[in-house]
Amino acid sequence: MEILRDYDLTSLNTFGISARARFFAEVASEEDFKELFSSTEFKENEKLILGGGSNVLFTKDFDGIVILNKLKGIEIIEDGSESVLIKSMAGEKWHDLVIFTVERGLWGIENLSLIPGTTGASPIQNIGAYGSEFKDTLENIEAFNIETGEKKIFTKEECEFGYRDSIFKNKLKGKYFIVSITLKLNKVPKLNSEYKALDSFLKENNIEIKSSKDVSDAVSKIRMSKLPDPKVLGNAGSFFKNVYVTKEKAQSLLNQYPDMPIFKEGELIKIPAGWLVEQCGPSDGTSWKGQKVGNVGVHDKQALVLVNHGGARGSEVLDLADKIIESVYKKFELKLTPEVNLV
Ligand code: FAD
Ligand code: EPU
Repeated sequence: MEILRDYDLTSLNTFGISARARFFAEVASEEDFKELFSSTEFKENEKLILGGGSNVLFTKDFDGIVILNKLKGIEIIEDGSESVLIKSMAGEKWHDLVIFTVERGLWGIENLSLIPGTTGASPIQNIGAYGSEFKDTLENIEAFNIETGEKKIFTKEECEFGYRDSIFKNKLKGKYFIVSITLKLNKVPKLNSEYKALDSFLKENNIEIKSSKDVSDAVSKIRMSKLPDPKVLGNAGSFFKNVYVTKEKAQSLLNQYPDMPIFKEGELIKIPAGWLVEQCGPSDGTSWKGQKVGNVGVHDKQALVLVNHGGARGSEVLDLADKIIESVYKKFELKLTPEVNLV
């Protein structure tokens, strides 16, 4: 394990923002972590764990040590009659884990196909898509305490999961290095196709689901038609979270904006932030959707996705995000919050 200095992070974040780290190390084994833990560079500096860099925005250089997670390995640790426990080391790609499960006919994470990034980052914001969330299949998480070096096993309850949220974004932010996740997958088919966009896609294309792989393929197709490929256009997926309001608040907005799409989720109503952004713009009568502002912009197929058209600085993305937040607040009195981790 080598500790490098003044390291270029441009290719390590999907926004493609150029930023540098004062120190940089790759951790490919638990021994690497122990060695790193005893180094002065680790002890005396601020730390940032990085997986695929698909949910971070570097707003400036990082004046500390970036630890790139390269812990690999996926194994079945318990094979029951109805379910299977699968342990993935944290540096595996999330989508590779999805493929590992659907190829074995297992059900549980197929709706989360094609989400970029590592399995170790998936608990941080409790990744979600097409009616599923990471927490739904979680058995436990193993993580090193960054201050003491001790290992702890977190149960699902201890992780305090919410919509795009967990204890690792709040009380324990930056305090643990997740080294593995263990999921419980079903052998028995458990189709979850109620999410409107998925349901419509299956119906419109006359797709009959026979396996979890069929779901995975359908979700992948929908995603590819909407979301920009970071290899082609820098981005970090949805830049903002969707907005949840009470029924009363939703009704008062609907009185004013009868075309506003709403989705009932439990006691609350989800208002898609993509719609809110699309209704506002840099000036009256314009829409942010598809707008280019200097080197940055709003994706033309998904208004929740901010993009780097090339050579953007993190501060430019942030400025655009602030303008969008302001315009949405002015029109709807709803405050958008970033989903992406600002560094
Ligand atoms: P990074 O960006 O490297 O890190 C994200 C945060 O987690 C940082 O704060 C980092 O410090 C911390 N972290 C990373 N690894 C560890 C670790 N091992 N231990 C402790 N902390 C850690 N997200 C969704 O939920 N649903 C989607 O549908 C979705 N679609 C996307 C589509 C695109 C095109 C893109 C670019 C992103 C999308 N995302 C989506 C966001 C992103 O894929 C997820 O948040 C993913 O989990 C990030 O993984 P990563 O390894 O890239 O994390
Ligand atoms: N919409 C618009 N205009 C837009 C985009 C969306 O009006 O430009 C409205 C439409 O009414 C559409 C609705 O928003 O029906 C929902 O859009 P979509 O299905 O694209 O999903 P989303 O709510 O914008 C969320 C997640 C995505 C996830 C998808 C699928 C958040 C912040 N985003 O997006 O996650 O893939 O649902 O489940 O919750 C991410 O987190 O990075 C991410 C991409």
